[in-house]
Amino acid sequence: MTYKEKVAQKLSLAGAKEKVCVLGIESSCDETAAAVVVNGRTEVSSVVNSQIDIHKLYGGVVPEIASRNHIINIQTVVSEALSKAGLTINDIDIVGVTAGAGLLGSLLVGLSYAKALAFSRSLPLVAVNHIEGHICAGFIGTDLVPPFCALVISGGHTSVVHVRDYTEFEVIASTCDDACGEAFDKIARVLGLSYPGGPNLDKLSRSGQNNIVFSKVKGGGAYKISYSGLKTAVINYVRNREQRGESINAADVAASFTSAAFDGLIDFTFNTLKRLGLSSLLVCGGVAANSYLREQIKARAEQENILSVFPPMRLCGDNASMIASSAYYNFKARRNTAGLDLNAYSVLPIGKSIT
Ligand code: KG4
Ligand code: ZN
Repeated sequence: MTYKEKVAQKLSLAGAKEKVCVLGIESSCDETAAAVVVNGRTEVSSVVNSQIDIHKLYGGVVPEIASRNHIINIQTVVSEALSKAGLTINDIDIVGVTAGAGLLGSLLVGLSYAKALAFSRSLPLVAVNHIEGHICAGFIGTDLVPPFCALVISGGHTSVVHVRDYTEFEVIASTCDDACGEAFDKIARVLGLSYPGGPNLDKLSRSGQNNIVFSKVKGGGAYKISYSGLKTAVINYVRNREQRGESINAADVAASFTSAAFDGLIDFTFNTLKRLGLSSLLVCGGVAANSYLREQIKARAEQENILSVFPPMRLCGDNASMIASSAYYNFKARRNTAGLDLNAYSVLPIGKSIT
């Protein structure tokens, strides 16, 4: 039997199983991650090897260094995920892997490893869109069911998405330039905070006042979401004062920037929920860890009788459980089943089939 025939057989066997065990692999940026998830919801194990300490030295992710470290780490990370789950590769029904969006060199490490593993064990391979993965983090350990609205905010993406079904996504608005997390990282750097700036800026902003007027980021509609204007305004504010020899209150800049970054986006998200008649909101991606955003959304959701779901912090940042969950739902929908010719994509629109 050829690999293709064996895979077709395993796919139909998995289709009849009560428990489908997916091994997820993620390497799109600077985290090498593997996880085992059953039926898209039950996390059995999750291992994340972060390279933050290495990239910190350079003030941001250095793609070449990230790829090299993925190569060093991937075997150990996958073995650890299996052993933590008390399983062997023989217990796995499907391998799910991030095919994009992300750094090409980094993606190719996880992808090549997943392809080799799938081929050697005749396992079905499912390609996963990283951002759809962030959305699927909302299914792990919860009973959240579509349709709902997702606010996806990470270092590479800022989108408001109508999640019609587990594999049906409509982007309502998306950033046309910088992502929200990217703006946080840049402003943090200007304020002298270390990488990754987002969490450090979050901490600093807690002791500051929202007393500097920066124009607020607006959500979609006639405007796309844009963070580059706010980023430039904050940088100019800091640099102009520095040039005049005036001191700045970094905590006030952080608090004012945070409010300008989120208030308009939150309004837009709640208006979208109303317009689409949706009653649940998922907030996901690395920036979903932000304390101001969490407080504001929770308060507003309570006021407007909306169910707000925030994945636990460890599922907000990059991880492989979300990839395994997305692979499971894709498998159920017979979407993104991939062959050994699967490629990696630095840009990958949400909602578009990969294969
Ligand atoms: O989802 P993620 O781990 O990676 C991408 O797919 O991009 O998101 C990382 C981003 C970084 O920009 C980081 O600074 C930001 O999430 N981030 C935060 C916070 N924690 C992480 N931004 C604001 N406040 C936070 N607490
Ligand atoms: Zn991510």
